[in-house]
Amino acid sequence: MQCSVIGNRSRGSTQSVMNLLTTACVGRLLAAALLSASVLVPPSTIAQPVTVDGKVKISSNENVWGFSPKALARLQAELATGNYYNRDEIAEFIKLCAAHNGVKENYIMATAGSGPLLSLAALAYAQPGKNVVTTAMGYTSLVNRFEARGGNVKFAPLGADMGYDFKALAREIDDNTVIVYICNPNNPTGTLADPAELRRFILSVPAHILVFVDEAYLEIADTGLKPNTMIPLVNVRKNMLVTRTFSKGHGMAGLRFGYGVGHPEVLDRLGEYSTSGPSFLAAIAAQEALKDEAFLEQNRKNYSEVRKYVCAELTRMGIEYAKDPQGAFIYFHAGIPGAELNAKMREANILIGNTRESGVPEGTYKNWCRVSIGTKEQMDVFLGELSRILGKT
Ligand SMILES: Cc1ncc(COP(=O)(O)O)c(C=O)c1O
Repeated sequence: MQCSVIGNRSRGSTQSVMNLLTTACVGRLLAAALLSASVLVPPSTIAQPVTVDGKVKISSNENVWGFSPKALARLQAELATGNYYNRDEIAEFIKLCAAHNGVKENYIMATAGSGPLLSLAALAYAQPGKNVVTTAMGYTSLVNRFEARGGNVKFAPLGADMGYDFKALAREIDDNTVIVYICNPNNPTGTLADPAELRRFILSVPAHILVFVDEAYLEIADTGLKPNTMIPLVNVRKNMLVTRTFSKGHGMAGLRFGYGVGHPEVLDRLGEYSTSGPSFLAAIAAQEALKDEAFLEQNRKNYSEVRKYVCAELTRMGIEYAKDPQGAFIYFHAGIPGAELNAKMREANILIGNTRESGVPEGTYKNWCRVSIGTKEQMDVFLGELSRILGKT
C-alpha cells in the first residue's frame, strides 16, 4: 500500500494529488514507531495519509483517522497466538459490551462487522408475501437481501429536509410486515432522528414486528450515542434489534467487528443462519477500542469539525446538501449526474461515493452524490476539484 501525507493546505487538481504521492508514509511510520517504543500517542497528533495507493479515497465511509493505538498495540502483542482458535476473547468482549450498554450478556451477538446482522435478519425473516418497511433513500443491504429471498420492500417517502417521516413509515406497515428497518443516522442522507420521536414510533409498531435500528454511524453524531441510542428499548420491547459496528467511529473497518443487541429469542432466530463469527484478533481490538473512550471522542470531534467545514464550503459555493448530516458522509446536489461527477473525480485520483437511489422513481436523485468525510486536507482536495468541475469559485 502506498500512502502519503500532506505537508501544506492544498486545494484540488490532479497535480495537487500527484504532488502528495511523493511524500512517504510518514504518518503511519510515525505512529508505528511511537507505538513500538511503547509511547502512548494522543490520537489527534497522528498525521494521516492524504492518499492511499495514490488516491484520495473518500468513497466508502472509512475512518481516515485510523483506530485506537491501544487496540493496535494489543493486536501486535497477540498476533503470534493466531495458531489457536478463539479462546475467551469474544466472551470477554460481550461482557464488556453488556456493561457498556446496560443490557444482559445474552442480549449481545458479536459478528464480523454489522453487515452480517443485516444479512441474517433478511435470511431469518424474508418469505414470499411478507414485507420489510423502510425509508426511501436509505441503506439497502437488508432490504435487497430480503427481496432476493422472495419478500417485498415497502418504502416510505422521505420527510422534510430529506429526514424521516414516521407517519409515512407507519402508513406502510400492514398485516404482512415482518421487519421495520431504520438506519440512524441514515445513509446516504446523514439524517439523525429526533430520539423522542423515534422512540415513540418504535413503541407504536405492532409487537410481533421486528424493529431493526442500524446505528452504524451513531458514535460520530455531534451529540454522540447516549441521547440517541435505541438500545435501552431492547429491555422493554422483545422484537427489537439494534446494531453497532467498529468499522466507522472506531475506525476498524478492515478488522471486521460489530454486534447486535436484542432479546435472546431474536438473536437465536438470526443465529440459526450464521456460519462463522468474528476472529479473536478483531475481538481483542474491539475490547480495547470500547475502553478507549478518549480516542472515540477525538474521532467524533474530527467528524463533527470536518462535516461542519465541508457544509460551510458547500454553502459558500451555492451547492445544496441534505441538511445537518451526522454520519461519515455528506449527500449533495452536484447539478450534473452523480455518475459523471464520480468519473471526473476519478480522473483526478479522487474517489467519491455512491449515487444509488432506492424507493424513488429512477432519476429523482440523479444529480446527487455522496462524499465520505476525510481529513480537512483531503476535503480541500475534493472541494478544489469540485469547484473546478462545476465552474464555481
Ligand atoms: C448504514 C450501514 N450499516 C451497516 C454497514 C455495515 O458495515 P460493517 O459490516 O463494516 O459493520 C454499513 C457499511 O457501510 C452502513 O453504511
